[in-house]
Amino acid sequence: MTVEKMAEYLWGLPEQFASILEQGISLPVKYQHNYSNIVVTGLGGSAIGGDIIRTYALQKAQVPVIVNRDYDMPNFVNSDSLVLTVSYSGNTEETLSAYHHARTQGAAIIAVTSGGKLADIARQDGYGVVKIPGGLAPRAATGYLFAPLALIFEELGIVKGAKTDLKETVQVLKAIREGIHPGVDFPENQARVIAREMKDSLPIIWGSSARSETAAMRWKTQINENAKSPTYYNIFPELNHNEIVGFGMPKDLLARLVIIILRDPADHPQVKKRIEISKEIVRSHVKKIVEIQAQGESFLAKFYSLAYMGDYASFYLALEYGINPSPVETIDYLKAELAKA
Ligand code: PA5
Repeated sequence: MTVEKMAEYLWGLPEQFASILEQGISLPVKYQHNYSNIVVTGLGGSAIGGDIIRTYALQKAQVPVIVNRDYDMPNFVNSDSLVLTVSYSGNTEETLSAYHHARTQGAAIIAVTSGGKLADIARQDGYGVVKIPGGLAPRAATGYLFAPLALIFEELGIVKGAKTDLKETVQVLKAIREGIHPGVDFPENQARVIAREMKDSLPIIWGSSARSETAAMRWKTQINENAKSPTYYNIFPELNHNEIVGFGMPKDLLARLVIIILRDPADHPQVKKRIEISKEIVRSHVKKIVEIQAQGESFLAKFYSLAYMGDYASFYLALEYGINPSPVETIDYLKAELAKA
C-alpha cells in the first residue's frame, strides 16, 4: 500500500461505518440466546475492535465481554458463550486455533473477516460469517472491523443505541478530518503539530480506565505500525500506583519523552484530579505534555475522535521520518517464518 492509499483510508474511515450501517447485519434466529459471556478473539488490528466493544459494553451491557488474543479459549467458554472470531485476512494462526477451541467447547460462533480460511471453515461448520471488504491493511479497516461487532450486539439485544452512536461517530469524524487531512498545513493542522512533537522522542500515551484506554492502545499500535517507532501506553488511575514513580532517572531519556494525555469529559472526577496532579509531577522532567480532548456525546464518537487524531498523527510522524507508513514488513516476516515451521 502506498502513502497515498493510507491517506485515502484515513479520509475514508467515516464512510466505512456508513457502508456497514447501510448494509446492516442479519443473523439467523439461532443466535438469539441469553449468553452468559461474550468473547471477541483476534490479534492486532483485528483485536482492537474487541477492546472497543468491550469498553462500550462496560457502559451499556448486562453481560461480560472479554477480548482473547491467544491460541486457546478461556476455560469458562461453553454453550452459553458467544464467540466472535475476528480476522481481517482470515488466516491468522492464533485466531484459527482459537476458533477450533471455541467450536470444541460448544460456543455459538460468528466470524468477521474479509475471507481466508476462517470464512471457509466457519461456513462449512454452519456458523454465521460477516464478510467485510478486503484489500486494506487490517489497521486501515478499523471501521469495517468494528461496526459489525456493534451491530451484532444491537441485533442480539446486548446493547441498545449502537446504530445511533455509529451515526454520530460518522458526523464527528467527518468534522474532525476537515482540520487534519493532508491538505491542511502545519501549524493549523493539530495532527501535524503533534507529529512534530513526537519526532525524535518517545511518546508515552496516557488514557483512563474504561473511557480512553482503548484509544491509548490504538495510538500506541498506530505509532508502532505507521511510524515504525517505539511507544508505550498506560491508564489512570493505575499509572498513579507505579509508573508515576518512574520519572526520576535516567534524566536524558526522560527529557525525550512526550506525554500524550487522552481526555474524556466523562472521566471520573477523581481521575480528572489525578491527571492534573500527575502533569505537575512529570512536567519538569519531560520534553512536552500534550492533551487531547474527546469530541462528541456517545462513547463511540468520543473513542473514535481520540483514535482518529492518533491515526493521522502517526501517519504524519512516518512522513516526518521520511518513511512509508503502510508496510509492516516485520509482521509479514514473522508470519512467513512461522508458516515455514
Ligand atoms: O496490523 C496488522 O497488520 C496486524 O496487527 C494484524 O491485524 C494481525 O497480525 C492479525 O492479522 P488479521 O487482522 O489478518 O487477523
